[in-house]
Amino acid sequence: MNLDNNLLLRTLNHEQVERPPIWLMRQAGRILPQYRALRGSLSGFKELVSTPQLAAEVTIQPVDELNVDAAIIFSDILVIPEAMGLDYEMVEKVGPSFPTTIKSLAQVEKLESGDNAAERLDYVYEAVRATKKGLNNRVPLIGFSGAPWTLLAYMVEGGGSKTFSKAKKMLYQEPEWSHLLLSKITDTIIAYLQNKIAAGVDVVQIFDSWAGLLSPAQYKTFALPYIEKIAASVKRVPVITFAKGAHHAIPEISEFETDAIGLDWTIDAAVVKGFIGDKKILQGNLDPCQLYAKHKEIEKSTIELVEKFGSKHIVNLGHGVYPDTPLDGVKTFVNTIKNYTYPTN
Ligand code: CP3
Repeated sequence: MNLDNNLLLRTLNHEQVERPPIWLMRQAGRILPQYRALRGSLSGFKELVSTPQLAAEVTIQPVDELNVDAAIIFSDILVIPEAMGLDYEMVEKVGPSFPTTIKSLAQVEKLESGDNAAERLDYVYEAVRATKKGLNNRVPLIGFSGAPWTLLAYMVEGGGSKTFSKAKKMLYQEPEWSHLLLSKITDTIIAYLQNKIAAGVDVVQIFDSWAGLLSPAQYKTFALPYIEKIAASVKRVPVITFAKGAHHAIPEISEFETDAIGLDWTIDAAVVKGFIGDKKILQGNLDPCQLYAKHKEIEKSTIELVEKFGSKHIVNLGHGVYPDTPLDGVKTFVNTIKNYTYPTN
């Protein structure tokens, strides 16, 4: 594959690079005026997600506007529950909401899974094909999925929550259904990622956004085996695993067939390297709120970040960029990296 900019793929392949690649979680979205304009002309978020040409357009916007080293396909982790038969709504200014939530074993048994569910997501694969065409090999395209625990959390809780205590209650009270649901979600994710790869994505990232809500023991039981299975199923492209808040699990994740590990901003690179050495590429982990600071401070902390990680690093934030982040702050972050060169030896 001949990409004009293959810095991300070379880094994931442990090759020596002149500088680290940079992209931002949630780069396609409300930080960009172009996104807000298009979004404002539509009936809602789901119209954007389910219309391949529009999804492709907003996927490419940050590549044009910010000059990042990768695109991430515009979609949502919640397309998986929907394909399994549990519809969601995206409520303006509130977030996702599921009119029906999982409350019984019968409901879990009824959910569609694997290829049968994944084939309902043709619009995503079409968006991937349209994006690849529009990118015209400028930068690689990242595909993604939520991790099984994070998706179960939404399907049981019904929407965002500080504690996800309904979902956690299910793990404690009904471990058997929980495992059945996690297995069905896992099978769907595997089929979905295979289809996305066949459609053209160059890298995949698994988002376990609510990993930090589980105790280490619960995470070991209800999350890690499923992530391990997904990572092992992805053979043709590199995998990045981001388990937000689950520092305790980094040594175990480093044993999986994942090429890179995403870090949130609450852990330093040196601590992670102390656990796992240079075995995996690390991604992250500037605090998204750092981008509210003054230009000079963003520059300084970005340089400190790359110096802390050394090589084998993909620069990113420690979580998705917040919608009200000043575009200038984002540009300072990206441009500081684009002007950086690793010191020789
Ligand atoms: O740029 C990209 O990263 C690609 C697009 C992307 C979106 N959602 C678009 C989106 C990605 C990778 C996601 C993943 C996602 N969705 C996650 C995991 C990543 C993370 O941040 O932890 C989660 C937990 C969700 C679920 C979700 N989707 C929530 C909680 C919300 C509402 C809150 C919010 O962030 O807006 C969404 C909506 C959503 N997904 C928007 C976008 C651009 C905002 C919709 C809009 O109003 O335009």
